Amino acid sequence: MLCIDLKDKKALITGSTRGIGKAVAEFLAKAGAQVVITGRDERKAQEVASSISPSAVGIGMDLSDLDSVKSAYEDLERKLGSVDILVNNAGITKDKLFLRMSLEDWEEVIKVNLTGTFLLTSLAVKGMVKRRWGRIINISSVVGFTGNVGQVNYSATKSALVGFTKSLAKELASRNITVNAIAPGFIETDMTSSLSEEIRKEYLKNIPLQRFGTPEDVAGIVAFLCSPMADYITGEVIHINGGMF
Ligand code: NAI
Repeated sequence: MLCIDLKDKKALITGSTRGIGKAVAEFLAKAGAQVVITGRDERKAQEVASSISPSAVGIGMDLSDLDSVKSAYEDLERKLGSVDILVNNAGITKDKLFLRMSLEDWEEVIKVNLTGTFLLTSLAVKGMVKRRWGRIINISSVVGFTGNVGQVNYSATKSALVGFTKSLAKELASRNITVNAIAPGFIETDMTSSLSEEIRKEYLKNIPLQRFGTPEDVAGIVAFLCSPMADYITGEVIHINGGMF
């Protein structure tokens, strides 16, 4: 078995108290990284951190509150130093047909999925530039490529993350920082658990591998992108969707 060694690396994963983010934190911790669990609820983040590894740290960080992002990251940097790996995973949906979508529905999703990602990345990248090593992984979505009814706001942010990834990859490549995106299809998490049985069956019909993905399916690829095996990959989008797109 290939072994991924991330000893001496610090990895911050946004929205890592559950779902895909938590699985990513578990994988990176198993590979030896010191992981920073973040979520809106600091106590929950600390609980998850202590369940993952003795060296893991949990901090409160609400990506819809830009002051919270800045103060949480600066506080973390003072205590632990800057991070080597940033996984921009947190994301929200506020699904509605476009004709009913308000400016508030639009702005809320843009703020968390895009502006929060911009701000945290701009804070974290400074230490990576100094050390001339960094790995940034942005979690996009298949709907950023296909579009989806009721998700104009969400899918716009997920397509935008692709442009963000590709442009930033070009700017940071000379500093040995890679920037990649992952576009998951249908993954079994809290985000998808509220969908009706009928919709789930409909989705399944379009998945050639005939199953939904798991958070671990995504986490393994994040770990790979942080490993030396992926040192020459940047500005790329990896699709994890069982063949649906
Ligand atoms: P989830 O809803 O289970 O978890 C999302 C995480 O983000 C949670 O930890 C939540 O606390 C955190 N979060 C939400 N708002 C936040 C805020 N304002 N500040 C900080 N953290 C916040 O979702 P899941 O499924 O684990 O999704 C993770 C990422 O993967 C998201 O970006 C999502 O858009 C993306 N994705 C998920 C797919 C799926 O089928 N589950 C498919 C494609 C992409």
